Amino acid sequence: MAHSNALSNGHLGGRQKRHHSGKRDGHKKNGICREVKENGVANGSSYKRPLNESFEQAPMYVNILTFIGFTVGTFFGYLRDFLRGCGLQKCVYATEREEQKDFVPLYQDFENFYKRNLYVRIRDNWDRPICSVPGPQFEMMERVSDDYNWSFRFTGRTIKNVINMGSYNYLGFAETDCNAIKTVCSVLSQYGAGVCSARQEMGNLDKHVELENLVARFLGVEAAMAFGMGFATNSMNIPALVGKGCLILSDELNHSSLVLGARLSGATIKIFKHNNVQSLEKLLREAVIHGQPRTRRAWKKILILVEGIYSMEGSIVHLPEIVALKRKYKAYLYLDEAHSIGAVGPTGRGVVEYFGMDPDDVDVLMGTFTKSFGASGGYVAGRKELVDYIRTHSHSATYATAICPPVAEQIIRAMKSVMGLDGTTQGRTSRGLS
Ligand SMILES: Cc1ncc(COP(=O)(O)O)c(C=O)c1O
Repeated sequence: MAHSNALSNGHLGGRQKRHHSGKRDGHKKNGICREVKENGVANGSSYKRPLNESFEQAPMYVNILTFIGFTVGTFFGYLRDFLRGCGLQKCVYATEREEQKDFVPLYQDFENFYKRNLYVRIRDNWDRPICSVPGPQFEMMERVSDDYNWSFRFTGRTIKNVINMGSYNYLGFAETDCNAIKTVCSVLSQYGAGVCSARQEMGNLDKHVELENLVARFLGVEAAMAFGMGFATNSMNIPALVGKGCLILSDELNHSSLVLGARLSGATIKIFKHNNVQSLEKLLREAVIHGQPRTRRAWKKILILVEGIYSMEGSIVHLPEIVALKRKYKAYLYLDEAHSIGAVGPTGRGVVEYFGMDPDDVDVLMGTFTKSFGASGGYVAGRKELVDYIRTHSHSATYATAICPPVAEQIIRAMKSVMGLDGTTQGRTSRGLS
């Protein structure tokens, strides 16, 4: 029978056997930091069983009107293309140059049909350049088109107080207020803007160590490692954790960074239905019973990839059930908290706290600093053994330039604020807590 504890490189090894004594420094048995209490917030979860999610369906009349709109637009699109083809209408869209016709076509007429005939007509609603920080409201650059949206020119004026429905900055920490970012400015003048080297070469600064210790403390785990890019945190670290002979079970709606990481790893990938515990269990059971194809040998590791909050759907992972499954089938769990860390849970510790669970229940905690902390980069956190392994084996640690000091400081200041360690209540108020 396949057994995922049959590890080869051992970096996740023995995880399931670990006994949670609950005596680790500064942590309660359920893994929630002491600061949580000090921060004046009720210790516990906001999760009430059962987790009933409902997603609003578009009303029928909206579906019908949209369909009619597309049909009419498509009809006129063909008519306009015909007129352009006959030279009766001016053609301003990009076409292949005669001497490039031997190469793979860059512009294919049919693929561009919708862009040319439907999107262009309403193009002014998208890709609008903004010229202020992306707070709850921002400023937009005014632009006009003299050729029915084929091109735009800026008028030099700005449109103020536009409601921002399109970017992160969940807690408002991306800001330009000099007082708020005082420490960031002083780190910039002390350390400079760039590190210009990878962590494993000359790019390892005390700021990185400070940041990683803070992240570990915030999450209530033994260790953390920070990376300069959230996308690369997934895509470069998953291949360090699993490889050939391993099985990845991935939620069908996972972010492309997880998908890329899974593909780069060389592991076998199977997809389960979004947030569907039955679908996941079916795959786990089959994997454990049948093992690897042809040889029937046990999978070296089975890694479940999920997100905390799925950004496009707004759905929240069914963590308690998934943790129960990974224990039952001795698999490992990789949780991407890009959208939940800082924003979800009574004190912003993400979905683990939201469900009142122990951070040790998740083998690999991953998150980004781009959404709630108004900065950039990502982290991997968990047991020290895991993080040490990542430090030496991750392509991001070896080949990518380390996170730059002012950005590290921005994350530190935002995280300290959320934790209530900065002596203010800003972190609480920005999370909507009184
Ligand atoms: C779930 C998830 N993981 C990872 C990333 C990549 O993070 P970043 O934008 O910080 O590179 C994103 C980006 O939106 C995401 O939604």
